[in-house]
Amino acid sequence: MANDSQDVFERIEREKEDYLEELKDFLRIPSVSTDPEHNDDVLRCAAFVEEKLSAAGLEAETIATNGNPLVYAEWSGAPGKPTILFYGHYDVQPPDPLDEWRNPPFEPTVEGDQLVARGATDDKGQSFAQIKAVASILAERGSLPVNVKFLIEGEEEVGGEEIDKFVHADGGTKLSCDAVVISDSSMFAPGQPCLLYGLKGLAYMELKVVGPNQDLHSGTFGGAVANPANALATIISRLWNAETGRIEIEGFYDDVRPLEGWEREQWGQLPHDEQEYCRNLGIEEGFGEQGYTTLERCWGRPTIDVNGLYGGYQGQGAKTVLPSWAGAKVSMRLVPDQDPEKIARLFAEQVERIKPRGVTVEVKEIHGAQPVLIETRVPIADAATGAQEDIWGKSPFLIREGGSIPVVATFAQVLGVPVLLVGLGLPDDRLHSPNEKFNIGNFYNGIKTIVRLLDRAGA
Ligand code: BES
Ligand code: ZN
Repeated sequence: MANDSQDVFERIEREKEDYLEELKDFLRIPSVSTDPEHNDDVLRCAAFVEEKLSAAGLEAETIATNGNPLVYAEWSGAPGKPTILFYGHYDVQPPDPLDEWRNPPFEPTVEGDQLVARGATDDKGQSFAQIKAVASILAERGSLPVNVKFLIEGEEEVGGEEIDKFVHADGGTKLSCDAVVISDSSMFAPGQPCLLYGLKGLAYMELKVVGPNQDLHSGTFGGAVANPANALATIISRLWNAETGRIEIEGFYDDVRPLEGWEREQWGQLPHDEQEYCRNLGIEEGFGEQGYTTLERCWGRPTIDVNGLYGGYQGQGAKTVLPSWAGAKVSMRLVPDQDPEKIARLFAEQVERIKPRGVTVEVKEIHGAQPVLIETRVPIADAATGAQEDIWGKSPFLIREGGSIPVVATFAQVLGVPVLLVGLGLPDDRLHSPNEKFNIGNFYNGIKTIVRLLDRAGA
């Protein structure tokens, strides 16, 4: 039955509601990696994943690290056949702002065809689809068409430092494989699959502007003492040009690899309706670097964004105060061949140059990720594109994305194998935002896509 997955598909149809319940159990664990208060939940979540993989019939283990544990599993009963390494992450972003959720973020709720919860699509739903694909084949046939390995981490959303060390130390022994398959991204549009050949990198910075040694009365001292919140606003406003959208950090664009002509041409032909894009987001128009389209800005040009801004009085009504400090979290998304460390340094130097007098500024790099471009014209990619065609009836678009998955560059570099980014989510899944969702149809079709991928890879 190597080319035909009907047997497994029938099982999936019979059992799919149970799969959904299992996914809900996964989503009930608040594995927020950035928040130390959730440490125990993170550990509980790793144990959950290990349990699912071993229940599926794989040899599974939890690997301790200096941070959150990795879950590893393998099945190697198909000698002579290729080995696929599946990667995913069981950690999630914080659910804030809590009051904007229709239901509590860790009480998964079905709304029509959508399963709403933090992590529904990023990445528990997608990673679980990979697990269920393997589990359903093993349950149906007692064997797999290829060898598989899983490596699922618990700190992707905070930079993935430990998995990076692990992959480097392993050097492709335990992790030796013929391809890495990752489902931690989105389809291009409903019904339109894609295969990613590029992800952005990241330099995530925290700024603290410090002034007087105490909060001050803004009447008594205002105008005579530099206000750190004013100073922070000045610094931020000088980091880019609001007219041209160009980032004004000296040297920032030095290593940027320009978009290729074919990319601009092909992306220009993709079905993107700017008006609808804006309407869906409730904005009047887009904004970004002059001379580039929305897709080019998102996928191929570096960007800068304030992620959070704080300091001074945040409560109800007015309080007249000159705060003693103010802070901001600022991220820069990077493209090949920018280097996160170098960009972090250029950022810190620029802030020092542009900061107003009368305050000091502390700049900290929180985490980073390397940008990556992937060679997808490899035979094993045919299994992925074929699988997507089988399920969606359409060939995948070959595109890049603006998000980052830090370990992707490491996999490509250390393992030296193709990394196939087969996203099962949708662009409107509200990743990192309140009411994150995963379409239940995408969950089931995602499982089937991975089943087809494995059957095709083993044929
Ligand atoms: N799943 C996302 C990355 C993603 C989103 C890729 C959409 C392609 C399309 C991932 O979990 C994520 O959000 N990563 C972080 C990484 C960062 C904290 C180092 C990101 O991009 O913000
Ligand atoms: Zn993710």
